[in-house]
Amino acid sequence: MSDRVEVIIQAALAAGKEILKFDPNTVETEVKSTAGDLVTAADLASEKIITQTIKAGFPDDVVISEETKEGQELLVPDKLGQLTGWVIDPIDGTNNFKKGMAYSGISIGYIENGQSTIGAVYDPYRKELYIAEKGKGATRNGQPIHVSDKTVFDAGTRVCTSNSYEGGTQANIDRFTKLGHVWVDVLGSAVLIMTDVACGRLDLYHHNGLKPWDNAAAFLIAKEAGAKTTNLQGQPTTWLTSEVIMGNPRLVDEFVARTN
Ligand code: IPD
Ligand code: CA
Ligand code: CA
Repeated sequence: MSDRVEVIIQAALAAGKEILKFDPNTVETEVKSTAGDLVTAADLASEKIITQTIKAGFPDDVVISEETKEGQELLVPDKLGQLTGWVIDPIDGTNNFKKGMAYSGISIGYIENGQSTIGAVYDPYRKELYIAEKGKGATRNGQPIHVSDKTVFDAGTRVCTSNSYEGGTQANIDRFTKLGHVWVDVLGSAVLIMTDVACGRLDLYHHNGLKPWDNAAAFLIAKEAGAKTTNLQGQPTTWLTSEVIMGNPRLVDEFVARTN
């Protein structure tokens, strides 16, 4: 295990412990872009503890995090190859956190020359730590994980989206109606949905408002667990892509065929 894998584990677990110290009812909260888009004191505390943990081990590493914003100008396709450093979502599912929904995760990705090479997602409620290293597979609490083997859409196929920009959520749900009778979930943490797809609890994720810090770890974890990720036209994605279809490769291909 590399030193950076040890640091990512330490940082994710420390952040998970930290956010559970806050009471959702009283935590200091501000509204960002829309009434549903929040930042709380717990997001900032998580960001601080992750950054401090990384910097203690690797003081010169670049750290880019959702709430601090520093360095986010590097998160564009034409600068991607130059990026080596960490990309963090200190709480993914802040709205869930604030509402006491117990479905929020910590996401930390390590990027080398634009490629995700280590990813960690921690769910502090279920105490589940997902780790992937490029080319080495993905695990949950140390056990290998794999996407579901569901390759057809039927009443037992769980397809999932999450809240998006105005009109975006509706557009995703409209696409689900083209799949026939399927089981539809709309959940509030992109990174936990993606890790739930990676371990086969959910069969497919489709979303269109993803940010690089949502994807930096979870795309790698899902791919290492056997997922295919494409855009709506069936083309491959990078972790900068905002629109994704993710799941068992045959199910993703079927989704693209049915919705185009
Ligand atoms: C959001 C959540 C939400 C998803 C949004 C994300 P945040 O992240 O993951 O479920 O639908 O696209 O931006 O703001 O809670 O970190
Ligand atoms: Ca997020
Ligand atoms: Ca966040």
